[in-house]
Amino acid sequence: MSSSSVELLEGTPTSWRKESAIYLTETKSSLVGTHHSSWPLALSSLLISFGALLTVFLLLLIRSPLPPPLDPFRIQVWEDTKRIDLLGRKLQQGISGGRILDSIKWLAKDVHVAGTAENEKLLNELGSMYSGWGYSVRFFDYSVLLSYPNYTRPNTIEVYDDESGDWLTVSEGFGRPKGPKELRNQESDSRSGVWWSAYSANGTVEGSIVYANYGRSADFDMLMNMKIDVKGKIVLMRFGGVSRAVKIAEAESRGAIGVVLFSDPLLSGPPSGNNSFPVDMSLPGDDVQRGGLLRAVGDPETPSLPSLPFVPRQSTKRLRRMGALPRIPATPVGSDVAARLMRLLDGTLSKEHRWQGGLSADYRMSGSRRFRLSVHSQLTRRPIRNMIATMRGTMEPDRWVMVGNHVDAWVKGAIDPATGTAAQLEVARVLAESSNLSPPRRSIVFCHWDAEEFGLIGSSEWIEEMGKILDARVVAMINVDHVAGNASLQVKAVPLLFRVLSEAAQSVEQRDETERENGRLTLLDSWKYHGGRSPIDGDRNLPHIGLPGGASDHQRFISLAGVPSVDIKMTAKGRSSYPLYHSMHEVPWTVERFVSSDGAALATVARFVTEATIRLANHVVIPFSAVDYAQTLSQWLTILHAKLDHLEVPKYLINYDLSFRSLITATSKFREAAEKIDERTKEITSEKRGVSVTALNGINDRLMRLERIFLDGDAFHSSLHKHLVFSPSKIATARTPFALIMETAHDWSMADQSDKESLLETISDSIARLTLAMQTAAELLELPQEE
Ligand SMILES: *[C@@H]1O[C@H](CO)[C@@H](O)[C@H](O)[C@H]1NC(C)=O
Ligand SMILES: *[C@@H]1O[C@H](CO)[C@@H](O)[C@H](O)[C@H]1NC(C)=O
Ligand SMILES: *[C@@H]1O[C@H](CO)[C@@H](O)[C@H](O)[C@H]1NC(C)=O
Ligand SMILES: *[C@@H]1O[C@H](CO)[C@@H](O)[C@H](O)[C@H]1NC(C)=O
Repeated sequence: MSSSSVELLEGTPTSWRKESAIYLTETKSSLVGTHHSSWPLALSSLLISFGALLTVFLLLLIRSPLPPPLDPFRIQVWEDTKRIDLLGRKLQQGISGGRILDSIKWLAKDVHVAGTAENEKLLNELGSMYSGWGYSVRFFDYSVLLSYPNYTRPNTIEVYDDESGDWLTVSEGFGRPKGPKELRNQESDSRSGVWWSAYSANGTVEGSIVYANYGRSADFDMLMNMKIDVKGKIVLMRFGGVSRAVKIAEAESRGAIGVVLFSDPLLSGPPSGNNSFPVDMSLPGDDVQRGGLLRAVGDPETPSLPSLPFVPRQSTKRLRRMGALPRIPATPVGSDVAARLMRLLDGTLSKEHRWQGGLSADYRMSGSRRFRLSVHSQLTRRPIRNMIATMRGTMEPDRWVMVGNHVDAWVKGAIDPATGTAAQLEVARVLAESSNLSPPRRSIVFCHWDAEEFGLIGSSEWIEEMGKILDARVVAMINVDHVAGNASLQVKAVPLLFRVLSEAAQSVEQRDETERENGRLTLLDSWKYHGGRSPIDGDRNLPHIGLPGGASDHQRFISLAGVPSVDIKMTAKGRSSYPLYHSMHEVPWTVERFVSSDGAALATVARFVTEATIRLANHVVIPFSAVDYAQTLSQWLTILHAKLDHLEVPKYLINYDLSFRSLITATSKFREAAEKIDERTKEITSEKRGVSVTALNGINDRLMRLERIFLDGDAFHSSLHKHLVFSPSKIATARTPFALIMETAHDWSMADQSDKESLLETISDSIARLTLAMQTAAELLELPQEE
């Protein structure tokens, strides 16, 4: 903020006058209150006092006079949008796509799995860069439970040959570098090609194979209906539908002894089933999606506590028993191997269209041949390290605007996470360059997390360690996991951030020629055009923004800490993810060939993040829209009500009508309070009037606390999530608001009679807690009479 925007107002508010009067009275009495017994003494002390006063007076003449204490009610602050716009334009000019591409090269040079020396080296290098730019850098170290394959002894699958009595290899468990020399060189590393899933149990199992589609609960039910038993079998499943961890848990609970996962070319290959990488960006048949199988977030050994030396650990035996770790071996295989396995099955042909896909084989449900799955994996406690770099805010240093992404990858990670990390670095660099002339009002904090891939571990442990501090200080969190394409902006955010994100996108000029020719001159124009419908019914000013659930570090900030969060990605046209996800082919060559040959898309994301960051860090009123929050909540409540109605919950829940009506009433109150605070802030943000420091603090405190109101740890059975609206669904990839209530209702509808009552109690308890939260939100936003 420029100094000209701070002005002293004429006229003194009455409360201040009262306070000053008290202050003056006290001072006076302490000066004259001493009682003296004799004249000479009194005279001399008077002379001494006079001398002292004279000295002070002369000193004051020499130095500048002490200013009177500033009265926060009288200091007026004015919004200065022009300054922010100018700053944004200047920063945007400084951003270079070429530099982002260069950063990707060093970030993705080595295989850098969490807990390895290579990854620690990267984090240290990042730390040095930020220090060099003038940020104050801190590392946060933890020792957490990770898991690795045996890189010299990959997982294998064999089939028993009745004639020879031999085990024949079906899968040797790894892929090979391919394509032109430059690409092969980048892919080459003895660890790159190895197929593995983290946290799989170690061991060898033997049995026949059953195909279970996506491994959803309904898929296993279907097998049961067809009298195909999975007990004692190895289950073959394809990625999609539900998270990896849920698939394994489901198979395990049905008595399976092992799991084989594959990417169906239907979803990740070219339409014809050709293995086209490096001709295009589809996943070839000889590589896999790596990933974690943890059924928790954060270090499973220290739930709800940071993994510091003084914190006790839970035994892995206990974690397996409680279901946080898989009990059976599992591995991914390339679709070539999956097709080979399918062809070795001789059981029932799958008639269901929804069970078939793009493998060059008939999809069968089962077979009589015996297979042997050997998984060589190891659980081990390893050090991890987060890097946090801070640029201090000038006016509100204890308010933090955070920008973050993870550093660790499954292989070299040129797309996930290096594209995101490199874009973030460029944002940090241009901000540092301008920080002398235009320091931010609030502090800007850049974070580089470790062990995200294993289960959002670095960010979880940090939130567990710093939770109380973050609660008091963090304004918002911007996460940029990766950029996998150059066409569609994919943004998931809480409603409080809808407006500022759309404003930020409007400030980013569209540089793509085709887009410009079609009249889409800003990033917002393209986002609105390509992105789908507005999250607020009837509001055409907003672009499409999804729910902030999902599988990157921002999820911990919203779901555990109640920090308004956004995840920003860019993808190829019509794709929500990318087929080479977590494969060995995520190297710089691939980024330059298929994602952003000139770095332009990467620069666009960096510009967008820059605009969002400076707006959150510089607007005098935190640019949150409470009205959007209230509006979205009431929209979602309609959906919730319909869902509960559909499941016939109201029939069985005593007082359902009363409790839902109270919820609606409380939401309307929240909305009214939101409109009032919005009105007041609009006068300030439109620069029609200034605001006193005290009033401004009052408004900003309210806006900052608002999201936290929806935290309620007691509503949940586990300590992993606390947010009544945005905690992710248990099924993890599914995105629904109020997952706690929606899913419990779903479980209730499927449950045995004996479990129904307690589930019903959970539903009514959650509705009551939500009602209370809405009521509290309304109370929180209420402003005192205008000073
Ligand atoms: C990995 O496998 C090799 C070869 O079988 C073996 O020598 C080595 O001990 C294994 N490493 C671990 C960590 O188990
Ligand atoms: C994995 O299991 C094999 C036997 O199935 C055993 O020899 C090996 O030591 C185990 N490795 C680890 C790391 O537990
Ligand atoms: C797939 O491969 C076949 C044979 O190599 C080729 O004729 C066809 O054009 C390819 N299809 C695509 C979509 O690349
Ligand atoms: C944009 O992405 C497409 C693939 O979706 C790719 O063919 C094209 O080369 C990319 N453009 C640039 C400039 O990188």
